[in-house]
Amino acid sequence: MNHLLTIGDLDTYQIQSIFDLSEQLEKYPKPLLTGKNIAFVFEKPSLRTKAGTEAAINHLNGNVISIDANLIFSSGKAVPFSSRESLQDAMMNVSQWCDAMFARVYSHSTLKKMADYGEIPVVNALCDQHHPMQALSDLFTLQQNFGKDQKLTITYVGDANNVAFSLIEIGLKFGHTMKFSGPENYSWNEDQLGYFSLLAVEHGGTFIQTIDPFEAVYETDVIYADTFISMGEEHLYDEKIKYFQPYQVNSKLFSHAKSSAGFMHCLPAHRGIEVTDDVIDHKNSWVYQQAKNRMIVSKGVFATFLAGETTKIKTNGSVKVPSQEGTSINQISKRSKP
Ligand code: CP
Ligand code: NVA
Repeated sequence: MNHLLTIGDLDTYQIQSIFDLSEQLEKYPKPLLTGKNIAFVFEKPSLRTKAGTEAAINHLNGNVISIDANLIFSSGKAVPFSSRESLQDAMMNVSQWCDAMFARVYSHSTLKKMADYGEIPVVNALCDQHHPMQALSDLFTLQQNFGKDQKLTITYVGDANNVAFSLIEIGLKFGHTMKFSGPENYSWNEDQLGYFSLLAVEHGGTFIQTIDPFEAVYETDVIYADTFISMGEEHLYDEKIKYFQPYQVNSKLFSHAKSSAGFMHCLPAHRGIEVTDDVIDHKNSWVYQQAKNRMIVSKGVFATFLAGETTKIKTNGSVKVPSQEGTSINQISKRSKP
């Protein structure tokens, strides 16, 4: 069974193949998903991931079947009889009619259970820890702007969240220098830092972490931002916001990057909070290009999973994050030659 739960489920060759196929399908559409039903189940809101992917599946002549999240995920509730059926039964039923499941969930462990219980590929549409579909279209966007061969410095400023993890993961897999800047008390754990170090060593990239956003963005090629408060964390707003205010991407911070630097954001953006209007509306802001690419890259992903158009995805689930001792939390820089 092939699933796409994390960027760790793909190697660099497979990612580049998905990009090449995405470009081809955007230029020369083919009805590769004729007769295929893709189940969408979203436990959290979505604009881009849902509509962009549905548009991609429509262009490939596939069908989307939207499933009410309460029918799939209610089993976690404590009240007896509040759930209609177990996740296992729901997944086995959907597997009888559909060819893949595209799921946005609160917990990564739910996705792993869905992959285990069902008989169809599960593709992660965002969970608490990962956003692989976003990271794929972000790297595709970077390749459109810089070409496929240039090694870049990409600086993420803000929360150590799902989007940041998948972005750092894919950037390191392609040998880029990935910088991260956020408050120390909302940073990566030792296992995650160890995993970034291993990826850097394996692929010849670098991971650098600093709490100083100005140091982080100095001479960078790209600044990337995401919300300070992710879905499901709304109750933490007062607690978190005071730590994150220094990490707003505004024109002062942006001016410390290269003059040609781009600005990226997965969206939705909270204008005036993590980013100011003058940056998100800057001529070098690529946020709508990223959004368009959510659709284009979804074509390559679903054609790969369901039409066998390129190499199959290799693993059966989530990335294993190895632990590594002795990794310092404030500044990590691992470089190796390929
Ligand atoms: N970037 C992203 O995943 O957007 P949505 O939450 O609107 O899908
Ligand atoms: N980190 C954000 C990403 C939204 C696309 C969240 O999880 O809400």
